[in-house]
Amino acid sequence: MNKLIEEMEKYAVEYDIPIMQKEGLAFFQRLIIENHIKSILEIGSAIGYSAIQLARLDPDIHIVTIERDDERYMKAVENIERSGLKKQVTLIHGDALEMDIDGKFDCIFIDAAKAQYIRFFEKYEKLLNDDGVIVSDNLSFHGYVEHPEREMSRNLRGLVRKIKNYIVYLENNENYDTSFINEGDGLAISRKKKTNMIE
Ligand SMILES: C[S@@+](CC[C@H](N)C(=O)[O-])C[C@H]1O[C@@H](n2cnc3c(N)ncnc32)[C@H](O)[C@@H]1O
Repeated sequence: MNKLIEEMEKYAVEYDIPIMQKEGLAFFQRLIIENHIKSILEIGSAIGYSAIQLARLDPDIHIVTIERDDERYMKAVENIERSGLKKQVTLIHGDALEMDIDGKFDCIFIDAAKAQYIRFFEKYEKLLNDDGVIVSDNLSFHGYVEHPEREMSRNLRGLVRKIKNYIVYLENNENYDTSFINEGDGLAISRKKKTNMIE
């Protein structure tokens, strides 16, 4: 397994695939274990790196993961096959915004197109279990979010603005308690608030 993980990390560098950073992943793995999370919906599989790294934590964990890019999807199929975790990882090929997924999840992991985070959140939050958590990655976006003074292309500036909008959206979302974690490329952990039955 460690050989496969190393190969995936090298492949990601060589082909410029944005997989989760090690510190962010370690934090996420601890969160999964401590909260006894067993079902995960991941939006953005890339080559299957994070899905494999989460599934390997416990044979009772099951992950549904969605990837729209053809080449990355094919590579993820190959990697998941090689990992021996095929029974735990269901890989779906397509655009997460244009499909319907069945089921309920302890965790929804948003790690796809940064400009669409609010749309992913709003489309998929209904699949979250009552005490579930939504994890969003790349909220620092390589430090650009905290350092708007840095030189940026117009496209990058637009993307950074959308990530900031998402952060504000999470801060103002009264149905969730969100903490922002400065590990890896910046994570948000949004916990669904308990609904008060006695009004
Ligand atoms: C940051 S990478 C995912 C990395 C992966 N979670 C990991 O850490 O190993 C984001 C991926 O999301 C995919 N993606 C972007 N928008 C998507 C969408 N609407 N539906 C499905 N996949 C999408 C991209 O093709 C890209 O491979």
